[in-house]
Amino acid sequence: MYRTRTCGDLRLADEGLVITLAGWVQRIRKMGGMTFVDIRDRYGITQLVFNQEVDEALCEQANKLGREYVIQATGTVRERSSKNPNLPTGEIGIIVWELNVLNAAVTPPFTIEDDTDGGDDLRMKFRYLDLRRHAVRKNLELRHRMAFEVRSYLDKQGFLEVETPVLVNSTPEGARDFVVPSRMNPGQFYALPQSPQTLKQLLMVSGFDRYFQIVKCFRDEDLRADRQPEFTQIDCEMSFVEQDDVLELFEGMAKHLFKTIRGMDMKEPFPRMTWHDAMKYYGSDKPDLRFGMQFVELMDIMKGHGFSVFDNAAYIGGICAEGAATYTRKQLDALTEFVKRPQIGAKGMVYARVEADGNVKSSVDKFYTQEVLQQMKEAFGAKPGDLILILSGDDAMKTRKQLCELRLEVAGQLGLRDKDKFACLWVVDFPLFEWSEEDQRYYAMHHPFTSPKPEDIPLLDSDPGAVRANAYDMVINGVEVGGGSIRIHDSKLQDKMFRLLGFTEEKAQERFGFLMNAFKYGAPPHGGLAYGLDRWVALFAGLDSIRDCIAFPKNNSGRDVMLDAPGVLDDSQLEELCLKVDVKE
Ligand code: AMO
Repeated sequence: MYRTRTCGDLRLADEGLVITLAGWVQRIRKMGGMTFVDIRDRYGITQLVFNQEVDEALCEQANKLGREYVIQATGTVRERSSKNPNLPTGEIGIIVWELNVLNAAVTPPFTIEDDTDGGDDLRMKFRYLDLRRHAVRKNLELRHRMAFEVRSYLDKQGFLEVETPVLVNSTPEGARDFVVPSRMNPGQFYALPQSPQTLKQLLMVSGFDRYFQIVKCFRDEDLRADRQPEFTQIDCEMSFVEQDDVLELFEGMAKHLFKTIRGMDMKEPFPRMTWHDAMKYYGSDKPDLRFGMQFVELMDIMKGHGFSVFDNAAYIGGICAEGAATYTRKQLDALTEFVKRPQIGAKGMVYARVEADGNVKSSVDKFYTQEVLQQMKEAFGAKPGDLILILSGDDAMKTRKQLCELRLEVAGQLGLRDKDKFACLWVVDFPLFEWSEEDQRYYAMHHPFTSPKPEDIPLLDSDPGAVRANAYDMVINGVEVGGGSIRIHDSKLQDKMFRLLGFTEEKAQERFGFLMNAFKYGAPPHGGLAYGLDRWVALFAGLDSIRDCIAFPKNNSGRDVMLDAPGVLDDSQLEELCLKVDVKE
């Protein structure tokens, strides 16, 4: 046997036991005639003790160990004289009598400690070493437990896990496809699924009733902290359901995860907000509701008083930061610079402090009487000590998005985005279509299979932009952790949808004929949702980026720096695939 116990489980109660441990050398310390070696495995760290006076040769052997050597040690569990309260095994040490080096190791490029000296790039290049660090590995342990609880919940609810293919055709989720050339079909390409959307709908036509899959999805899109080119969905679909059935079941899953993983009872039903209200009051379809600072529109109050910036604006709105009137001029200038950054694009910011006597002092005092400023204060329900921040612009949607950024920034500064607090929300009633100015056409806001609200169907011809969808997102702390919809199950309506999205009959038949035909054979009403597993794990682990809960993630340029992927193909491979590469600088 390589080991009889692990490096994480020995305690004072085990004193006197003879055990064998195997693992990596974390650290070696010499103190007088004693050598202490910390041995590490997945489960923890245990101190090995060597005494020169007892066994000089053995101690000499221990002194020759290097960091990250793989060793095996046999000895007796003893109480330590100087205990380490920071380690679960910190009350004991192993008095070693036998030591075997199972494998030597070269010095690692960074220290394998929670607080490592390795920079990001280095840690990604040597990700297998980074994964030895407890701080990283615990995220993958959490991921495992979450996936396990998801399976357990869905199994109890009668869901079947069905695998769908990875070599498919383009699946429309709005990103670019990753494509794979087919050797056996020269000049033809598979696309990796952006999601198993159409396949899970076909499983409903097949009568599977309740499907799920923890599945890799692939999207060639710009990467951000919460986006990876390959990521994992908890993908689900159900037959004979309406929107409320889907929301109830997946709210149940969310509560199950909060309970089993975080030990939190989320008893109340999650609030629901229409997309329209989310945009109006938070300037975002994923509002962070851990804190208030709802937008207040000020057009009626602030327009027409001679301040030309506001007088010419199509939108004036603001937020009220409770107790933030202590912000200094310097801090306010920094916030103004923040909203003026090109990524945000505001032209400026107006601020107003509510003073102790209730008077309002603003940066545009010369244009407004105290009476008007008091009306503004009332509109916010602001109290002495509060700070009001106002943005305006000639495009309401754009200005709201800028105000959204300001709201998040200020909340961050005020410490309101506590990672241990969770605010869950369903955003419902998304628009069915999104208008693209650039392409002068409508796109599906969710995907082309999402059904319109029945009462809005008459608007499909007259005012497509006003049609609401039976679509919903779950948002936690401002992160979209999942989304789904009730689907169209009628081939005629689906056909109309394709037409509105600019597909000719031939094009629709070419791309989605398989689904449209399937619908002719008796498609049940159905709907579903997909949660983003990576985002759930990152949220529960308090991580800023989903990268940290993925074993082998890609960097922001979509590269795996460890594997050095993507790479080039050699000429024979290209020839076999009938491909010519022509890279333009
Ligand atoms: P959607 O495109 O909203 O819906 O994706 C569902 C969820 O997947 C997560 N997600 C991502 N996570 C990490 N990196 C990415 N690049 C990424 N893209 C999406 C998000 C998102 O909410 N087929 C539909 C679902 C359905 O209608 O049932 C779909 O894929 O958490």
